Amino acid sequence: MREIDSVQYGPWALVAGGSEGIGLAFARELAAAGINLLLLARRGEPLARARETLLGEYRVEVRTHAVDLTSPDLAQRIIDITGDLEIGLLIYNAGAMHGAGLFLDEPLEKASQLLRLNCQGPVTLCHHFGRAMRERGRGGIILMSSLSGLTGGARITTYAATKAFDIVLAEGLWAELRPCGVHVLGLVAGATDTPAMAASGVDFASGQAMDPAAVAREGLLHLPRGPVHIAGEDNRLAAAVLRGEDRRQSVALMSAGAATLYGLEPPQLPTAGDD
Ligand SMILES: NC(=O)c1ccc[n+]([C@@H]2O[C@H](COP(=O)([O-])OP(=O)(O)OC[C@H]3O[C@@H](n4cnc5c(N)ncnc54)[C@H](OP(=O)(O)O)[C@@H]3O)[C@@H](O)[C@H]2O)c1
Repeated sequence: MREIDSVQYGPWALVAGGSEGIGLAFARELAAAGINLLLLARRGEPLARARETLLGEYRVEVRTHAVDLTSPDLAQRIIDITGDLEIGLLIYNAGAMHGAGLFLDEPLEKASQLLRLNCQGPVTLCHHFGRAMRERGRGGIILMSSLSGLTGGARITTYAATKAFDIVLAEGLWAELRPCGVHVLGLVAGATDTPAMAASGVDFASGQAMDPAAVAREGLLHLPRGPVHIAGEDNRLAAAVLRGEDRRQSVALMSAGAATLYGLEPPQLPTAGDD
């Protein structure tokens, strides 16, 4: 694998949602490249575990902070936490949907939380750290997205919409920052075997989901190129169908996928020839 450029992306990387799963896998790759880590997540215990593991395996500094990325005062909290740390790489990883439900049957607050986590949070952190990166003329930003950001689907309506936002945000930032020497990538994952998914009741059959380490590695490999990368060969094939002209088919497939994941009946939807 190509070396991670610690001059371009160091000396510190901030991983928002860095205590487990894909976020922790990013942290390992970066620590192996000699980049110091600031990991954010809500729960202190997984953060402490991640720090201990990383310090035991790599010779880098590791700091952790318990913070909720949906906090209304996120911008100020981030300033207080990072102080004058030189963040050369921002990875906004947190943002999975836990459980599936019909838009109108879920409380409005659940949708609003997802908007704060997957839209307001990335905008806030990109605005803050992106300015400093532009001034330095180097740096990198990875925004985690999902195959569901390529098409809407029943029971994941708001989640899919926020993940589409992340792809489009990454594309625009890539266009603005690439000429300034800052790399931006929207990283699209498909099913990935993470603790968060397991905790939400998803039990992937063997071989059905990607390993978090493979997703993180592909992301870092493609960051210098941008603006969007789909992790995993199978997911790239699925994306070609989901991005197709026949949007009825795309939405039906995504809705069926979400239903299968949570052991629910897929909705009966009209497809191409139907009126
Ligand atoms: N796993 C999949 O199958 C899959 C598929 C497609 C895309 N993705 C994308 O990959 C990313 C990672 O997914 P994941 O499955 O690992 O689950 P996740 O819940 O998005 O991420 C887990 C990490 O984020 C932290 N986190 C979650 N909510 C947070 C909040 N409000 N504030 C601060 N930290 C928060 C978690 O720690 P705490 O819980 O302690 O806060 C943990 O460190 C997401 O953006 C997701 O959309 C995942």
